[in-house]
Amino acid sequence: MSQVKDKSNVVETEERLQIVRLASDRQKRQSTKANAGRDVAIGLSKTPKSLPPQYFYDDRGSELFEQICSLPEYYPTRTEAEILRQYAGEIAGIIGKCELVELGSGSSTKTRLLLEAFLDGGHSLLYVPVDVSGKILEESARKLGADYPSLQVRGLVGTYEEALTQMQPSPWPSRTVVFLGSSLGNFAPEQCDRFFEQMTTVLEPGDYFLLGIDLQKPKDIMEAAYNDSQGTTAEFNLNMLAHLNWRFGGNFDLSLFYHQAIYNESKSRIEMHLHCKQTHTVYLESLDFKVEFSKGESILTEISRKFNVETMQQYLEARGLKLVRAFTDPQQWFGLLLCQV
Ligand code: TRP
Repeated sequence: MSQVKDKSNVVETEERLQIVRLASDRQKRQSTKANAGRDVAIGLSKTPKSLPPQYFYDDRGSELFEQICSLPEYYPTRTEAEILRQYAGEIAGIIGKCELVELGSGSSTKTRLLLEAFLDGGHSLLYVPVDVSGKILEESARKLGADYPSLQVRGLVGTYEEALTQMQPSPWPSRTVVFLGSSLGNFAPEQCDRFFEQMTTVLEPGDYFLLGIDLQKPKDIMEAAYNDSQGTTAEFNLNMLAHLNWRFGGNFDLSLFYHQAIYNESKSRIEMHLHCKQTHTVYLESLDFKVEFSKGESILTEISRKFNVETMQQYLEARGLKLVRAFTDPQQWFGLLLCQV
């Protein structure tokens, strides 16, 4: 059952539960030396400044993100979970026995609803969660293994891109790629196109793609979801600077920045900013990169696009993904689209 070409990085070898690190440490060190952090220097040299969102997710960032998902204002997770609770049985019935690849699985909390539906329906399953946090992936694989004795898990530690480019054809009757949480909305349109090019190469005719998308709705509801009253999203956003400090020997003073999320109507997207409170200079030692901040300027750290079902359906169908069924909640705040190649 070889999913990945290089087996030398399998760290848990129990047959039923495996964790594979996708890029070897040696490869990682080489790419670190050559160009890691270049994206940081490029983003901070732009006007307006921006930072690549992958720097949200160090271990602390992944933990904070888990907390965001259960905030009262953050409706997407619970709404998507509500849709899954209602329709997972139907989805499992349509798909049947398969290899289920989940991109950005985190702790796999929502996915349990899906996994249970497959197992309850008597469909055997190989679950392939992909996440950049090895720590979260190992923990969740262990828990899933304990809770579902018949489930096979093969976790892949790496980026979506690493997973999609290193994955081999599935020996299972079909493969389903699951992409929940409206993470697609975090891609700019060009990144989105590239994502679909890579994603569709691991799918064969008859395979499925299950996509969760946040839908357009009144602005105040969306803005509140990203400016929560407990300040968890603010902490998550600011943690990116702490991450850059440890990773690149930076001296960002977190108290000189504050978080704000706004909805950009013309682009139908939430924009996450870190605003600078006072003019100052930041230095990132290992990049030998110095950057000036002036009072009031901001760094764009993330976008979260909001969609509508019809436009997304056209986009998917143009890429050979036929909509089988669109599931939504009664308020139509979130959509879960089941597509087939
Ligand atoms: N996919 C999530 C979303 O767009 C990611 C997310 C939620 C997020 N809250 C965030 C990203 C706060 C950055 C900051 O809703």
